[in-house]
Amino acid sequence: MYYRKISCALVATAITLSGFAQPKKAAPQSKMDQFVSSLMQKMTLDEKIGQLTQYTSDMALTGPSIRAGYKEDIQKGMVGSIFNAYTPAYTRQLQEMAVKNTRLHIPLIFGYDVIHGHKTIFPIPLGESSSWDLAAMEKSAHIAAAEASADGLHWTFAPMVDIARDPRWGRIAEGAGEDVWLGSQIAKARVKGFQGASFDGTTVMACTKHFAGYGFIQGGRDYNVVDVSQRTLWETILPPFKATVDAGVGSFMTSFNEIAGVPSTANKWLVTDVLKKQWKYDGFVVTDYTAINEMVNHGNVANEKEAGEAAINAGIDMDMQGSVFAKYLKQSVGEGKVKVQTIDEAVRRVLEAKYKLGLFADPYKYCNEDRAKTEIMSAANLDAARDIARKSMVLLKNYQQVLPLKKSGSIALIGPLANDQRDMIGNWSGAGDWHKSVTLLDGIKAVAGSGVEVNYAKGANFSDDKSIVAQMNSQGGELVNDDPEALLKQAMDAARKSDVIVLAVGESQGMTGEAASRSDISIPESQQRLMREIYTLGKPVVLVLMNGRPLTLTWEDAHFPAILETWFAGTEAGNAIADVLFGNYNPAGKLTITFPRSVGQIPLYYDMKKTGRPADPNNKYSSKYLDISNDPLYPFGYGLSYTTFTYTQPVLDKKTIKATDKLNVSVTVTNTGSYDGEEVVQLYIRDVVGSVTRPMKQLRNFQKVFLRKGESKEIKFTLTNDDLKFYDANMKFTSEPGDFKVFVGSNSRDTQEADFKLTL
Ligand code: BGC
Repeated sequence: MYYRKISCALVATAITLSGFAQPKKAAPQSKMDQFVSSLMQKMTLDEKIGQLTQYTSDMALTGPSIRAGYKEDIQKGMVGSIFNAYTPAYTRQLQEMAVKNTRLHIPLIFGYDVIHGHKTIFPIPLGESSSWDLAAMEKSAHIAAAEASADGLHWTFAPMVDIARDPRWGRIAEGAGEDVWLGSQIAKARVKGFQGASFDGTTVMACTKHFAGYGFIQGGRDYNVVDVSQRTLWETILPPFKATVDAGVGSFMTSFNEIAGVPSTANKWLVTDVLKKQWKYDGFVVTDYTAINEMVNHGNVANEKEAGEAAINAGIDMDMQGSVFAKYLKQSVGEGKVKVQTIDEAVRRVLEAKYKLGLFADPYKYCNEDRAKTEIMSAANLDAARDIARKSMVLLKNYQQVLPLKKSGSIALIGPLANDQRDMIGNWSGAGDWHKSVTLLDGIKAVAGSGVEVNYAKGANFSDDKSIVAQMNSQGGELVNDDPEALLKQAMDAARKSDVIVLAVGESQGMTGEAASRSDISIPESQQRLMREIYTLGKPVVLVLMNGRPLTLTWEDAHFPAILETWFAGTEAGNAIADVLFGNYNPAGKLTITFPRSVGQIPLYYDMKKTGRPADPNNKYSSKYLDISNDPLYPFGYGLSYTTFTYTQPVLDKKTIKATDKLNVSVTVTNTGSYDGEEVVQLYIRDVVGSVTRPMKQLRNFQKVFLRKGESKEIKFTLTNDDLKFYDANMKFTSEPGDFKVFVGSNSRDTQEADFKLTL
């Protein structure tokens, strides 16, 4: 076949050349080095710049622009990568343009936002993180990779590892929540899942994003400025990124934001000194969508040409969609503003990625029509999606065991999310086909069976605010606004004739994700009105929430007996929610993000510090609000089960340890309720006195355990010196001798503690 001929010719040249090129004492070049060096010797500067250029196809749009002539550019060797193109047929067509028409026949690399599933959609990442099930998250990434790679894709722009503590930011939905330690474990699991053990054609290259600090944008307003200290950067923002480097991630994406005046895409310290040199990261770095061009708006450069120079000199290897490298880099080299060596380093990283993916050996390795037909949305993948969706759900309240529901009697199922296919699969669902998602109405009918009468009513529009609905629909939403009075009347009729009311309310998917910041994170007013009216009936109400961020639920918590957080649970959402509602599955999810009582408390997260004037209701001059407590409505790590668990005080095997010792912590957990169930046993520490102030609690480990009703288990953890380290007053990552506390419990608030000392 044509491509085989090309690659053999290239390999043959590489071998011949390498025989002469090897300096005597240098380490032997790997086959990849030989191949890439040989290829680069043949490349013109234009061809090299082509490899650093990426364009979106017109198949899907994830940003504000399109390069009309991208197909001609491919054929001229001016493109290294295409994104937003998939299916074996389409990627094969574009790949042929590159491989057959260009002088050196270099294949394209196809990227796409496979964020929480490709066609089989899993819960949004924030939802999935609530499962605290690393194996399940690795599995969902693995399935996503298998489907994507069968559909022509080589590369996913995931995982998003931005620690975020501001629920106004819509993109909080894409991450793993607020905690650094847990976020790092999840980031690793996702990279392992996407990339698998090797690039054998059934996995894809992962891309850690957005480097860095995007989760700390001011006011939660998307694309806004970030200004954080070096301490926050090193303690909170960078660890999950580093974790993915350790896990062998193949690519990185920079963030849109600036940090302290320097946009990430021009931040040499961040991209070259930290990522490439200090962390020894050997993959390539792509910008975010037109992020180079946007530097002109940021105001750190005067024009796009300068922006390109700033980016490449900072260590950027690929320009996503901006055409800036393509337009100006050659001129910049001519003017001495950019060294050829800098371009060569970037080209080498991009070509190495293509080599590792096996694209030189077979550019069509990932166009697998047969696999696409049999594996995409297979029964096994849908089963996995249902399983992970159930694991992601968090029971926030269950007063007097309203849940699980009986499979008899009548249920009113009311709300704009009750019979809605599009929203179930959430934002950033890429190639996901929402026509195939299971609505809550269908799920309830299937799981409850014919013994239950279901009275459905939409009840309210997502929002009666026409400008919000118009914005949703302009971004691919399908929202239809009906007459609010008629909707309410139908809802009240359905509710009146039913024993129990299930209210499916929350956000439309378009109210979350990119460019979907909200200043008010409550359930929209149209749905609040519905809730208030339903409440007046005095019937048992179960609130089923679908949303992509923590919501303020103070009124709901005070008025309804049962609340189930289901996020946007994916293709199998309806079945999975029904499994939980009817007790086929006992919920065990725990929040990975704090739910505030009011937007005014933001930022609110569990590992806060004490301040010099800790809150004291009897002391006016203490750190508190006049109108609200400091506590969240639902803390980090929180989530109920249909059963109950009790914990003993943690027992430590030593009172004093040295840095070389291990500290064993044990606790007995008993299932004291009447269902079998799972519990996420969480371990936190506090360094009581540090050379810099330390958070009140920091998660250091957890175990998810299954206990039959009545069963007890001793749960053991081991702490080492590494768990006690932090950046000291001199920014050295170390532990300091002194007093520590260990906390074990079922969430970050409800814990029991023990003390120990670290000595020199
Ligand atoms: C987003 C990235 C995404 C890229 C490509 C950007 O707007 O910020 O997260 O990967 O588009 O679709």
